[in-house]
Amino acid sequence: MNKERLIIFDTTMRDGEQSPGASMTRDEKLRIARALERLRVDVIEAGFPASSNGDFEAVRLVADTIKDSIVCGLCRTSDKDIQRCVDALKGANAWRVHTFISTSALHMEKKLRMSPEQVHEQARLAVRFARKLAPDVEFSPEDASRSDFDFLCRILETVIAEGATTINIPDTVGYAVPEQFGDFIRRLRQAIPNSDKAVWSVHCHNDLGMAVANSLAAVTIGGVRQIECTINGLGERAGNTALEEVVMAVKTRSDAIHFETRIDTRHIVPTSRLVSQITGFVVQPNKAVVGANAFAHASGIHQDGVLKARQTYEIMTAEDVGWTTNKIVLGKLSGRNAFKQRMKELGIELDSEDAYNKAFQRFKDLADKKADIFDEDLQALVAQEAGRTTDEHWKLVHLNQASGMGERPHASLVLADAAREYPSESQGDGPVDAVFKAIEQVAKSGAELQLYSVNAVTQGTESQGEVTVRLSRAGRIVNGVGADTDIIVASAKAYIAALNRLETGAERVNPQHTG
Ligand code: KIV
Ligand code: ZN
Repeated sequence: MNKERLIIFDTTMRDGEQSPGASMTRDEKLRIARALERLRVDVIEAGFPASSNGDFEAVRLVADTIKDSIVCGLCRTSDKDIQRCVDALKGANAWRVHTFISTSALHMEKKLRMSPEQVHEQARLAVRFARKLAPDVEFSPEDASRSDFDFLCRILETVIAEGATTINIPDTVGYAVPEQFGDFIRRLRQAIPNSDKAVWSVHCHNDLGMAVANSLAAVTIGGVRQIECTINGLGERAGNTALEEVVMAVKTRSDAIHFETRIDTRHIVPTSRLVSQITGFVVQPNKAVVGANAFAHASGIHQDGVLKARQTYEIMTAEDVGWTTNKIVLGKLSGRNAFKQRMKELGIELDSEDAYNKAFQRFKDLADKKADIFDEDLQALVAQEAGRTTDEHWKLVHLNQASGMGERPHASLVLADAAREYPSESQGDGPVDAVFKAIEQVAKSGAELQLYSVNAVTQGTESQGEVTVRLSRAGRIVNGVGADTDIIVASAKAYIAALNRLETGAERVNPQHTG
């Protein structure tokens, strides 16, 4: 049976970025956009251009680079916001303006302080203006799932008449339940006379853990043909519909969900890792599809079953979603060409030959410490490299750390800036605390540590540790990533990477506020 196509609209770089601490730099957005294009996402929502100059530039860069996906930007309903969005997007091969305004009584009265008539008129004018400038315009009635049915019918009929090409129904606060929500959208489509003139879409938040279920109900019951989602389910509060989950649900259960997507699922896990490394949001081990345990069989009964017939306990294959099953890819004797070739196969592009040379040197340093280099090691190495600012204020020259049972941990290290070297030492409540205190004695950044997380890059005790450090100062939040076979060294590298970002002011997009 011929299956209908579902449009996959990724909003990792817009809604996902709205999670506190997940903001991204321009270059990070470009790296994620390239990964999403390789994943064959239909629409990439790259940001909210009117929210800051940084985000404007980021959306423009993505629009100018991406060729195979539609690039979209979000804007409120003012002419100024819409114009800014158009200016950022117009260099793209294919682009879309996404405008929104709240439609629930609660939001209109308390947040917008506007009457329903004013909101209706504002939406009409916004879509009219956007359509003069852009061929592809999406409209979202924010908090739709808590909006009055008749009012929604009126406003949506109007914006479709003004030329909106996609109507997106957000469950902004994750309040919906699947059957009711699917039916709500079905009734909207039935009641609105011109509903067939637009593609219908859904955008669900995960506050009650039902974002994926609600999105699928919107497809199967409600008749929508676009799902908005994010990698790893990143997003405001409890996050959004997880791209990897809806895509694999559609693929694995095509007997029940008669649709297909054009996603190349083999790129799901590498993209998930990239987003996690950039944002510092660690993926929980038991997360569906992309969690480290998603394909691990711990109990003897399960292991036995899988060895006899994989399908006994596995409904999809690890390879199908891009798990590389800890393949040894390179070693100490591998040359630069083999290294570059493997990076290419992993979809990792560096900007210059110089960047490849530096990454190759780091690979050689790693191979001196670790016999087998896995794909995950290469990804960690590049994440660390790409996260580095070009103008590094602080460099770690030397680190020594000692701790033992009953002893207070002690760290001594040497940091350097362009002028000279600074020795420092400190005790701490733990080895990492001692190292961070010793660094701070020199750097005196005054930054607050918001997050410290360690991840084993591969399995086994010889694995590299990948550390993410999130620092905040004066409202600015930055992440630093460090990887090393010694997790104390990885921690120091991550802390210094974050400090360097604070020092250089690599512009991060402001957390955005909808409304
Ligand atoms: O959750 C929401 O309502 C949104 C809209 C801007 C689509 O993110
Ligand atoms: Zn949202």
